[in-house]
Amino acid sequence: MKTIYFLILGLALCFPAFCDSFESEAQKLAQDLKLNLVKNLTQKIEKEGVVKAIPFCHENVKPIAKEAAGERVAKFEFGRTSHKLRNQMNRPPVWAEVYLKEFQGKLKSDITKNSLLIEHEGKRIYLEPLFAEAKCLLCHGEKVSTQVSEKIKSLYPQDQAIGFKQGEFRGFIWVKEK
Ligand code: HEC
Repeated sequence: MKTIYFLILGLALCFPAFCDSFESEAQKLAQDLKLNLVKNLTQKIEKEGVVKAIPFCHENVKPIAKEAAGERVAKFEFGRTSHKLRNQMNRPPVWAEVYLKEFQGKLKSDITKNSLLIEHEGKRIYLEPLFAEAKCLLCHGEKVSTQVSEKIKSLYPQDQAIGFKQGEFRGFIWVKEK
């Protein structure tokens, strides 16, 4: 009885041993980054069309993410990565490679994990899979318009991030403690 009482008290007070704030903070940050990127991208596409949204991504992904993260940049590193890259700057860190291999080619319906929590050299890392939704296929899908494809090739001559199916694993958004 006593043990149960202490357990309940521990959970209620959120003792560090019971409550992992890294995971919830990282999840919140990943959520904010995703929402901000998608909001900005959708607005740009609606206003000026898909072709103009490509250089917009090229120039603004980093500043948008930094703004969304705010003061949390002091505590966390974050980014996006993939097995099929558009921007070489998003090359997978060593610790992501094995998970990219595990997830590549899979559909959202095949993947039961919403996120992964790993550790590398004593630092905790949160990884969340991203899937190619209908709106992503405009620039990452199997049938991309000629204009879009030309614009992508001019900015990213080594682009591989094309040919995804709806619901297919596209890559990870990750958050690492500093
Ligand atoms: C308007 C075209 C466009 C749309 C729509 C789009 N993307 Fe991208 N995506 C890009 C561009 C351009 C880059 C490279 C950005 C950069 O230079 O960092 C990119 C990069 C990425 C990356 C980083 C890895 C890499 O390959 O460099 C991921 C992950 C990604 N997109 C996922 C998505 C997802 C998921 C969606 C849908 C929610 C989406 N994208 C919609 C154009 C687009």
